[in-house]
Amino acid sequence: MNLYDRAKALIPGGVQLLSKRPELFLPDRWPAYYRRAKGTEVEALDGRVFTDVTLFGVGACPLGYADPEVERAVIDAVHAGSMCTLNAPEEVALAERLVGLHPWSEMVRYARSGGEAMAIAVRIARAAAGKDRVLFSGYHGWSDWYLAANLDDGAALDGHLLPALEPGGVPKALAGSVVPFADRASFDAALAAHDDVGVIVMETARYAMPPDGYLEHVRAEASRIGAVLVFDEITTGFRLHLGGLHQRLGVEPDVAVFAKAMSNGYAMSAIIGRRAVMDAVQSTFISSTYWTERIGPAAALATIDALEQRDGPARMEAAGDRMRSGWEAAASSAGIEITTKGVAPLPAFTIEHEQRAALATLYTQWMLDEGYLATGAFYATCAHDEATIDRALEASGRTFTRMKAAIDEDRIEASLTGPVASAGLRKTKR
Ligand SMILES: Cc1ncc(COP(=O)(O)O)c(C=O)c1O
Repeated sequence: MNLYDRAKALIPGGVQLLSKRPELFLPDRWPAYYRRAKGTEVEALDGRVFTDVTLFGVGACPLGYADPEVERAVIDAVHAGSMCTLNAPEEVALAERLVGLHPWSEMVRYARSGGEAMAIAVRIARAAAGKDRVLFSGYHGWSDWYLAANLDDGAALDGHLLPALEPGGVPKALAGSVVPFADRASFDAALAAHDDVGVIVMETARYAMPPDGYLEHVRAEASRIGAVLVFDEITTGFRLHLGGLHQRLGVEPDVAVFAKAMSNGYAMSAIIGRRAVMDAVQSTFISSTYWTERIGPAAALATIDALEQRDGPARMEAAGDRMRSGWEAAASSAGIEITTKGVAPLPAFTIEHEQRAALATLYTQWMLDEGYLATGAFYATCAHDEATIDRALEASGRTFTRMKAAIDEDRIEASLTGPVASAGLRKTKR
């Protein structure tokens, strides 16, 4: 039995993160496990080496895999003792660094993953506002407060990144406690329908930059009704700006949350906020042993320094733009119609064809043969230099050309060596 089959017998769902399911990429053929990862290269367990031009640790490594400077800081933290009865001074240094980057904020708490940091942010915000109802937009993790949206309407979360999430085990008493919105009109409608909104939670951007005036409008309404505004910058933070994208857009929340882009592959997350809101922590209980370990803050300090020194956000944006325009050129010269979307460092393309799922699988299959971990989504990092991107684009060009021939000769499915990758597998069950 191969390792992934063994995993599925032992680990419900096979993996710990939905987005790492091999069936989402190339069923039966995706190299599910890695031996080592360095720069942009990944050595699979069977020894094959690939260049990663897709999810790249699902966005957790903006500097590239196993960055030497972050490694050094982590190894120092390990040698100095990652855990102790006393506290790690890096917690204070990192708080000063984060508040320094976000002058509107005054206080900081930590966790180790994005979803738990968002749960903390919502707890703090509800406590500070004294009102429970949450309006939200975007994806915010696995916790009860968020999945409660699907108690009333099983499809409420479908437009917010991951469709078909099932809320088994989430107390039914939470039904109605969170209300989704997607744009200014649905935000205004949700606000008009509820006079007890205490918290507004949103991603600053996902598939595109926010329309002019949108964040400003939400900010003004939050202030008007006395709600706490939380920006989830787990995906956008440190990619489009050194700190939150909101800093670049000039709209200040009451709380902002950072996680995977801030510590380059080491578990760390931060909730930053205004003192009046963050002080509500004292009215509740938010405390966990491993939120005090040393590796996370040491890695975050080294990552933020490296992103600053290397002009990380600008490099990621340039890399993302190069990939996006390269895809467009390669697809058009091969005669394949694609649509691109996504903010600059996180471009994505969709193939415009009735058999788009089969063609997307074929793209991944043939790119794998070319030595690439590739899909229609790319998380740019500082390690993707121009030469790496251009080589990947040459492989994309050859792949699009093969795809065009498969379309013309009516052998799309016949060209696949396994089943079609299924976005339907983005369910919590399988
Ligand atoms: C915007 C946003 N919020 C929350 C999360 C959840 O973070 P984590 O997977 O670290 O729990 C993610 C992860 O993709 C995210 O993109």
